[in-house]
Amino acid sequence: MYPRIRMVVLYTVSITLIAFLMYIRKETKLAVSPAARKIAAPNPSHTFWAPEQTEASKCLPDLTIVNSSLALPELHRTFLMYKHCRNFSTLLKPTRCSEETFLLLAIKSPPINIDHRVAIRNTWGKEVAIGSKPIKLVFLLGRSEAKIQAHSLHQLLVYESQEFDDIVQWDFTDNFFNLTLKELHFLRWFMADCPHARFVLKGDDDVFVNTYNIVEFLKELEPGEDLFVGDVISQALPIRNTKVKYFIPESMYKAPYYPLYAGGGGYVMSRMTVQRLQSTAEDTELFPIDDVFVGMCLAKMAVTPLNHAGFKTFGIQRPFNPFDPCLYKELMIVHKLNPTEMWIMWTLVKDDHIRCAVSLTQ
Ligand SMILES: *[C@@H]1O[C@H](CO)[C@@H](O)[C@H](O)[C@H]1NC(C)=O
Ligand SMILES: *[C@@H]1O[C@H](CO)[C@@H](O)[C@H](O)[C@H]1NC(C)=O
Ligand SMILES: *[C@@H]1O[C@H](CO)[C@@H](O)[C@H](O)[C@H]1NC(C)=O
Repeated sequence: MYPRIRMVVLYTVSITLIAFLMYIRKETKLAVSPAARKIAAPNPSHTFWAPEQTEASKCLPDLTIVNSSLALPELHRTFLMYKHCRNFSTLLKPTRCSEETFLLLAIKSPPINIDHRVAIRNTWGKEVAIGSKPIKLVFLLGRSEAKIQAHSLHQLLVYESQEFDDIVQWDFTDNFFNLTLKELHFLRWFMADCPHARFVLKGDDDVFVNTYNIVEFLKELEPGEDLFVGDVISQALPIRNTKVKYFIPESMYKAPYYPLYAGGGGYVMSRMTVQRLQSTAEDTELFPIDDVFVGMCLAKMAVTPLNHAGFKTFGIQRPFNPFDPCLYKELMIVHKLNPTEMWIMWTLVKDDHIRCAVSLTQ
């Protein structure tokens, strides 16, 4: 078994490395307007550095819960043992946001998903401004879980960060149960390095975002007022079946329903809401499901997440026809797309002749 896994990992890493280098070559060949260059140019004082790979986390597991959690799955036990560990250092980060930033696109991406990041940078994440509203793209990463080739992957990330200046990486393991840590660290990064951004779109790296519609929607709204919009789910039941990825035992969440929350695939917030979310999250115990955790914080803040039909984070009816231009009318976000589908959608969205009229007042 072991040599096979090793082969697969080696193969994947080599393929992604080749794809990545090819994209870099393509990117550098593309002519970039001087204005765009100016916005995108990394600040020389923020040159990247290679972090010490070896430094282990200093936060020790809480062993007092070992006996009481024996019946729980391994992942849940690990989560509980490390739940108090909330401060991790930053390994890579991009240039600070400009004060003019209108929309920050903050996309969760595991280190290995180079292909997704390439697709986003070449499609909906490409525009540095829409209708004079500056946009900034950042990817949020933890540390690779893979033991094999972890070093080469990290080296690749250092190159990627140097080349695109859009990677924020923290020193915790990037896995499903650590997404709440990613949320918390993202909020802290926002307060420190991007505090002027008017609005934030937070999402996954397999979503398609119609950035034109998002900007159109936000244009008239006030960043100094609370705003949280997405694919809102109400009265969601905690899953008590241990075999399901989202299993949560009663010992971790007692109430029959989760608070209102928006699917983590993609939602939009105002600057005010992000700021309040940060201070609330600091005082909230971590919960393994990150979008539910955000819902818990919103409930504390008395902010009601608004549902918008254009946010399809729980998937759209399949099979759908990606070539149907009217699919894009009122569409903000679609979840679970592969890079090819992303490319098709972007091409159609960019085509003025077939773009459906956009009117997003609810
Ligand atoms: C857990 O249980 C074992 C055996 O019953 C006991 O020796 C140990 O002290 C317990 N550990 C804690 C942290 O309570
Ligand atoms: C994390 O950092 C904050 C402030 O920087 C501090 O108050 C808190 O005690 C730290 N938590 C841990 C577990 O180290
Ligand atoms: C989250 O990351 C920390 C630091 O890498 C690690 O110790 C912990 O086990 C991770 N949590 C889970 C549930 O995997």
